Amino acid sequence: MDRKKKMMPIGPLMIEHRLIERMIRQIDRAVQRMKQTGQADIVFVDHAVDFIRTYADRCHHGKEENILFRELAKKNIPPDHRRIMDELVAEHVWGRSKVAEIVAAKDRYVQGDKTASAALADAITALTAFYPKHIEKEDKGFFLPVMEHFSQAEKDQMLQEGYDFDAGLIHEKYKMLVEDFERAARVEESRKPR
Ligand SMILES: [Fe+2]
Ligand SMILES: [Fe+2]
Repeated sequence: MDRKKKMMPIGPLMIEHRLIERMIRQIDRAVQRMKQTGQADIVFVDHAVDFIRTYADRCHHGKEENILFRELAKKNIPPDHRRIMDELVAEHVWGRSKVAEIVAAKDRYVQGDKTASAALADAITALTAFYPKHIEKEDKGFFLPVMEHFSQAEKDQMLQEGYDFDAGLIHEKYKMLVEDFERAARVEESRKPR
């Protein structure tokens, strides 16, 4: 049997949790430095935002919401599983808004508003406090119990769908990057005197 097929669909999600935790520890270190010095490391913040948006949100929450939660929603699951799933989705939404807050504070800081470093540090601290709790809720109280609602064939199907989802992501990310540059180039061209 294909070794990958033996893994449950929550296997890759739990492996991803470990990388998110490692990055959160690094973000925590950076925010401590930021609080001590009042200076923000903008290159690091950009990398952290990219990690959270691309890996934690698009790749990881993407598989949770678009595969696992979507399939769970089709099942007649008990109210406590339904409640936790709804909470997890709401937490993803909260995380996205916090990242938007981080980007807005970072933009103000880059534009010269040095008071924005405190807002930036606060928003980052809120996000790094949130992730471990969210992950623990999934790892310890949700992922394994909800597997009982699926047959082996359904679990194998979700695992494969997760691999297919991942396979498209790098193409999606860099296509979006090129499209962003093209959009900016069109704006620049349209402003040139004729
Ligand atoms: Fe999640
Ligand atoms: Fe997760």
